[in-house]
Amino acid sequence: MRISRIFLIFGTASLCVASAVPRSSKPHSSFKRSDNATNPMFQLSTDADFNFEILRVLSMAPYEGADIGEVLVAAKEIEPGDFESFYNGFNNLALRAEKIARAIDPRRHPVSARNALFKLSNYYRSADFFLHGNWSDPRINALWEKQLSAFNDAMALMTVPGERITIHAKDGGFDIPAIFFGTGLPGRRPTLIACNGYDGSQEEMYHVIGQAALQRGMNFIAYEGPGQPTVRREQNLGFIPEWEKVVSPVIDYALERPEVDGDAIALMGFSFGGYLVPRAAAFDHRAAAIMAVDGIYDFGQSILKHLPEELQQIFSSGDAEKFNAILSKVIADPTTVTSFRWGVQQGSWALKAKTPFEFMTKAQAYNLTGLTDKITTPVFVGDAQLDGFFLGQGKELADHIGGMTTYHQFEAIDGAGEHCAIGATVYQNQVLLDWFEDIIHQPKNCIRP
Ligand SMILES: *[C@@H]1O[C@H](CO)[C@@H](O)[C@H](O)[C@H]1NC(C)=O
Ligand SMILES: *[C@@H]1O[C@H](CO)[C@@H](O)[C@H](O)[C@H]1NC(C)=O
Ligand SMILES: *[C@@H]1O[C@H](CO)[C@@H](O)[C@H](O)[C@H]1NC(C)=O
Repeated sequence: MRISRIFLIFGTASLCVASAVPRSSKPHSSFKRSDNATNPMFQLSTDADFNFEILRVLSMAPYEGADIGEVLVAAKEIEPGDFESFYNGFNNLALRAEKIARAIDPRRHPVSARNALFKLSNYYRSADFFLHGNWSDPRINALWEKQLSAFNDAMALMTVPGERITIHAKDGGFDIPAIFFGTGLPGRRPTLIACNGYDGSQEEMYHVIGQAALQRGMNFIAYEGPGQPTVRREQNLGFIPEWEKVVSPVIDYALERPEVDGDAIALMGFSFGGYLVPRAAAFDHRAAAIMAVDGIYDFGQSILKHLPEELQQIFSSGDAEKFNAILSKVIADPTTVTSFRWGVQQGSWALKAKTPFEFMTKAQAYNLTGLTDKITTPVFVGDAQLDGFFLGQGKELADHIGGMTTYHQFEAIDGAGEHCAIGATVYQNQVLLDWFEDIIHQPKNCIRP
């Protein structure tokens, strides 16, 4: 098969990101986007994936994670398709932001120091984002140390400081790093327990939804399991499909805290967490509500569909050598669409797969076939109108879970059409947390079975 043809097809995943549905379309009638419409949002890069990742950092601005102007300065250094330029843009920003943050005396100006340190941590994380193609790149750990250090210093300056904890997962034999953020309010409170996905950290979750939960008087617990940034680095563990082995010990821990109302726990999974959390909820029924943002029913099939038909056939035939030979060339080529190159590199790192074939094989285990019937909790399934990674998966998950699902499609015209409503954090938190508050405030017998 000619490689140029593959580029063209791989290109579609990303081109989708740059297209949209016209204003007149309504959430439930317009699930299938038409590829010819234009995206109503201004683009920050001609590289759709870089646009997405820059927007992701900007998205944290309402919750202490970024300042818009400095992110746009970093964005100007970033060249389409050039992963090193993404590192340079954010690393240079972080070095400037570090000077500013560390010059503040936190005893005299604790709020200013905290603001500056939270942003700094986010910028170091962003500098690391596209570097996982080479597992021995020393920057992978060096940048992480810096992001952790800035985040810890920021947390210590919160009105109620975040508390780092380690929870041992007996069934699995690994440690779960987590952070408990208490409201400081009296009595037992509703509690949101959240994880990130394929590439994000527990620290990012504080800015994604944690601070929004605290503002509403809910405790917040963020955690990471195997395959996620700190566990992958410190324990050398790749993802496992059995996410209940991660979630159940976190719920056990939460129930021991005097701040937590055990009848008002929500589990939230962000991005690839939209598979992980429903998977866990099929085995652990103690949460009052779960949120899959956005929902994923079959991760393996959904990424396989990004490949051209002929390559899918080579994969199905089990010809690993041929599959790897083609994919290695495609990934090494800087003109291949960024989301595809990055998706395979990041997935291989996070699933601990040495080759593209091994990655694709391992990925197939991440599906909810036969498990959705076991979910007994009300479920919120988010979906994004222009999802560039998992288009169609949210609807599929919602349809499989059926009656207990609240399906919500976030729309492009509201600035919320990208995967995980990136760019619309305030709006997304309004929708998600209002839904959770309504669930826990209604009498138990009114909740649908
Ligand atoms: C856009 O796509 C839709 C659905 O495929 C089609 O009906 C319509 O004619 C197209 N519009 C243009 C301007 O190409
Ligand atoms: C990966 O990074 C290491 C350390 O910087 C370097 O020595 C090695 O050449 C890199 N490998 C590739 C394939 O770029
Ligand atoms: C779904 O995952 C299971 C293992 O978790 C695997 O046995 C099965 O083949 C997968 N199904 C599909 C359709 O890939």
